[in-house]
Amino acid sequence: MKSPSFLLQCLQIFSITILLAVSSVAAIQRRTPRLSTIRGVTLKHPEILSAPLSEDLQTFYYNQTLDHFNYKPQSYIKFKQRYVMNFKYWGGPNAPILAYLGAEESIDDDLRVVGFLNDNARGFKALQIYIEHRYYGQSIPFGSREEAMRNASTFGYFNSAQAIADYAEILLHIKKKLHAQQSPVIVIGASYGGMLAAWFRLKYPHIAVGALASSAPILYFLNIKLTPPGGYYSVVSNDFKTCSEMVMPFEIRNDTMFPSKPFDLKRFEDGCMSTYGVRPRPHWVTSYYGGNDIKLVLRRFGSNIIFSNGLKDPFSSGGVLENLSESLLAVSTKNGFHCLDIIISSESDPKWLVEQRSMEVKIIKRWLAKYYRDPKALTKL
Ligand SMILES: *[C@@H]1O[C@H](CO)[C@@H](O)[C@H](O)[C@H]1NC(C)=O
Ligand SMILES: *[C@@H]1O[C@H](CO)[C@@H](O)[C@H](O)[C@H]1NC(C)=O
Ligand SMILES: *[C@@H]1O[C@H](CO)[C@@H](O)[C@H](O)[C@H]1NC(C)=O
Ligand SMILES: *[C@@H]1O[C@H](CO)[C@@H](O)[C@H](O)[C@H]1NC(C)=O
Repeated sequence: MKSPSFLLQCLQIFSITILLAVSSVAAIQRRTPRLSTIRGVTLKHPEILSAPLSEDLQTFYYNQTLDHFNYKPQSYIKFKQRYVMNFKYWGGPNAPILAYLGAEESIDDDLRVVGFLNDNARGFKALQIYIEHRYYGQSIPFGSREEAMRNASTFGYFNSAQAIADYAEILLHIKKKLHAQQSPVIVIGASYGGMLAAWFRLKYPHIAVGALASSAPILYFLNIKLTPPGGYYSVVSNDFKTCSEMVMPFEIRNDTMFPSKPFDLKRFEDGCMSTYGVRPRPHWVTSYYGGNDIKLVLRRFGSNIIFSNGLKDPFSSGGVLENLSESLLAVSTKNGFHCLDIIISSESDPKWLVEQRSMEVKIIKRWLAKYYRDPKALTKL
């Protein structure tokens, strides 16, 4: 299991998707991503990854439950889950909380690269929380990475439902500890983490007032059939998650310059069986997070989610690119790429990026204003 930095990950996802970009996604979208755009960011900010971490960051560990969903003895095993807080701008109890939901990497590099929280914490008087995803960085069950990845009995607890339940527990724990039960929480994530943020808002609306889901290819889980027309393509190959629930139906079509090579689901399943000892459940995500028409489900049952995308990002073809209701909003930029809006800002950022971010802030402010207007919000139950 690799845990590349956020930025490297964005690059990696980007390069993995170059093939997809020129074949399937471009075929679907007729858009060609430019590698130079993302290269530009790393060239412009080579210092990011080696910069010292802010002294305002404080690290904590939560005694996390291994399995939130059943009562077998092994479920009660605990592991230390890392989270990092920055109190610098926090207005205290009742003031907002911006919570970054970690994705498939150690939280260390996110702390250097993710800027949205720190760039806006002052304006919101917000507490910043960054939570590491289970099985990454220092948040590894069973004592060590080797043990955690031993076999299906130990890494079977590695899935998105467990991860967002972890985030729910930690956020409630922090709010209680800080007497901040009435503080509105906005969850923020990017890429896979963006899907987690959107799903978190759907599953735990009592904990998160709203979500910013950056570059979340949530629509790839649409209409997953058993006999997929073009086949499945895993985004993060050799990753356990794609062998369990994150089977994404990327199509490599036969109308590109590349030979069409439909993904063989049976072979994929057999590979997962022999590598990890698990059989994928490609339908579970749609069952758990919302049916075959996720847009309809969102419109009917969802609210307060920003889906931000850059259309130069091949993954944006799986993103929500239209406004679904007055609070399910798509904020896209024509020239943006993967995760760009939540990466630390710089004075040389183009105007369209500055505008995208300020639109996101404006929307979040609106949600918070509504939350604070609700008289019940500040009444202890
Ligand atoms: C974590 O939970 C385990 C099991 O309930 C307990 O034995 C341990 O003392 C707890 N550790 C901390 C630091 O609370
Ligand atoms: C995983 O490894 C443990 C310890 O070696 C073993 O007891 C258990 O049966 C294994 N589980 C599977 C599913 O192979
Ligand atoms: C390409 O795929 C389409 C749709 O599945 C199919 O109708 C067509 O026959 C295929 N063309 C070739 C050359 O295989
Ligand atoms: C959705 O609404 C937001 C906020 O009003 C706006 O900035 C954005 O451009 C809209 N998106 C689309 C795709 O129309």
